[in-house]
Amino acid sequence: MSLAKYTVTAALPYANGPLHLGHVAGVYLPSDIFVRFLRMKGHDVAFICGSDEHGAAITLRAKKEGVSPQEIVDKYNALISQSFKDFDISFDIFHRTSSELHHRTSQEFFKVLHDKGRFIEETSEQYYDEEYSQFLADRYITGECPKCQNPSAYGDQCEKCGSALSPTELINPKSTLSGKSPVMRSTSHWYLPMEQHETWLKEWIQNGVLDGVQQHDPKAWKNQVIGQCMSWIDGGLRPRAMTRDLDWGVKVPLPGADGKVLYVWLDAPIGYISATKQWALDNNKKWEEYWTGDRKLVHFIGKDNIVFHAIIFPILLKDHGDLILPDNVPAYEFLNLEGDKFSTSRNWAVWLHEYIENHPYKIDELKYVLTSIAPENRDSEFTWKEYQQRVNSELADILGNFVNRALVLTQKYYDGKVPQLGNLTDEDNNMLADVKASCKKIEDLVYAYKLRDAQAEAMNLARIGNKFLAETEPWKLIKTDEVRVMTIMNLALQITANLSIVLQPFLPATANKLADFLDFKTNDWKLAGSDELLEAGHQTNSPTILFPKIEDSLVEEEVSKLHAEEPSSDFDPQKDETSFDDFSKMDIRLGKIISAEKVEKADKLLKLIVDTGIDTRTVVSGIAEHYKPDDIIGKTVQILMNLAPRKIRGIESQGMILMAESAAGELSFMVSEKNFEQGGGIH
Ligand code: MF3
Ligand code: ZN
Repeated sequence: MSLAKYTVTAALPYANGPLHLGHVAGVYLPSDIFVRFLRMKGHDVAFICGSDEHGAAITLRAKKEGVSPQEIVDKYNALISQSFKDFDISFDIFHRTSSELHHRTSQEFFKVLHDKGRFIEETSEQYYDEEYSQFLADRYITGECPKCQNPSAYGDQCEKCGSALSPTELINPKSTLSGKSPVMRSTSHWYLPMEQHETWLKEWIQNGVLDGVQQHDPKAWKNQVIGQCMSWIDGGLRPRAMTRDLDWGVKVPLPGADGKVLYVWLDAPIGYISATKQWALDNNKKWEEYWTGDRKLVHFIGKDNIVFHAIIFPILLKDHGDLILPDNVPAYEFLNLEGDKFSTSRNWAVWLHEYIENHPYKIDELKYVLTSIAPENRDSEFTWKEYQQRVNSELADILGNFVNRALVLTQKYYDGKVPQLGNLTDEDNNMLADVKASCKKIEDLVYAYKLRDAQAEAMNLARIGNKFLAETEPWKLIKTDEVRVMTIMNLALQITANLSIVLQPFLPATANKLADFLDFKTNDWKLAGSDELLEAGHQTNSPTILFPKIEDSLVEEEVSKLHAEEPSSDFDPQKDETSFDDFSKMDIRLGKIISAEKVEKADKLLKLIVDTGIDTRTVVSGIAEHYKPDDIIGKTVQILMNLAPRKIRGIESQGMILMAESAAGELSFMVSEKNFEQGGGIH
């Protein structure tokens, strides 16, 4: 049987912000491990990525920073691709969807489908923001998700439940430009009639069969991926617009389509193809070989991307014809950070480029921890405390300790030369069988996309080594049985050499160091499990410490750097006129602050308990930079009673303390001059 060929893609990150550890743990690191392993096994593989530079994610960010979309994508493409290099993610190419080649490729793709009659052109009423003279789709419109009631779903997708949505499905939609309710206007677009594809999609996703041919093993797909897809299909697919009224994006390549661009979720996945084309051009290869014939296409993504990679893109690929469909779509759940969701807008994140800058020699430490806690099947959490624990008690105490012992004793007893192997005991043979079994297990686990377990199994090799040395105690035996010690040390070095192979996909820098210590280099996975990697007499080098211990101070410093900010609004600062009717809906009363304390890890927030005379309420207020808790206890304040309660940093805030701002920007309570009893109301 010939070795399978692979085209592996990692979701194109939006060039609208830096990468954080959630992105790394859930897409880039697992795909990199998988690909490094495949290369070692000798598979023909292309590893494709690039930045996603169109869509509202980009234009809204540009608006917020007050610069052009081009400036945004240039800035973040540079930052992101540098972070990938520094973190040693081994893409064959990191391309850009703003490139000319990509524009051309996605236009050609669109034309093929258009000319085959696979789109339906239709004029309909769409949401429109009159103030901004713009149609509202995707992230330009938010509202309540009809499926899971998430109050801040977008016009094309709910990021909470992953459903693909249309703006008209949102409950109580609002423009994210003006914050206002939109009006309706008519416009025409090209729709993909997804409902026509339900039958084959079901057969393909559930059984792996396409046009009567077995394409992939459905048991190899994650349950969550199949489950999500089936629930959408069973819920009924609907036509989906593949074009937008926007001026940033790939122009619709048809006459009379001025002012229209391709939907970003049409052009972005085609970015995988255009990136492959660029890579092929640069390397004298044929891009078609990577998208046709007998080859496995694998998309590493986050769970919010499932619908686009397992339903929409496959429809497009099949409609286009002559292109392969994904063999698997390993989708990851989400990583949380210290008890809360990663959030770019609230700045609740560990940024990859900052980690690299602060800890340039701890790249593998982060890789190890992120793979150990990877959100493979459920959401998981990163904490600095666990980072410290895993580095210290696993990397340093188990792996570092074993390697160090093996090499230091070799220096001490044999001037670094690999000693001769003597007769093997049962104990030795059992140990070697364990090593072999471990290597095989790692291989099976990686092919099954179980990278967390695979890394644990690789570490198990170091555990086997430690146990072997602890049981055979060469440092004691050296006094009585020098011949036996030679065998023990030879075997310990063989285990170390095996580690330098099996750790390569997970901890490439560490594996390299081991190879340097041993002066033994191979990237041939076939050699893993062998007990004859190092010949007797081979000269090894003195080791250095692999993993310095992580001090408490690092943990404290990193935790103290985390600061949640209140989400900054996308709306313009100047507020719209308010009607008298709207204003009189507000129930404003007087209340007395009876307790005040800082909200943990939030610079601006105080948690107040307010006695309103009719009840006692908790209000979270963004005034911590203006008032010390002790100074405001006992103050009478005005409180907006009937503001819808909302959770802020896990605390339910029931109302709002009213403040007024001076010209100089100082805040002051609007306190009554009279000594009212609380709760009187204002009439
Ligand atoms: N930019 C998207 C996101 O971050 C992912 C795009 S993946 C691709 O969610 F298939 F469209 F390229
Ligand atoms: Zn939802």
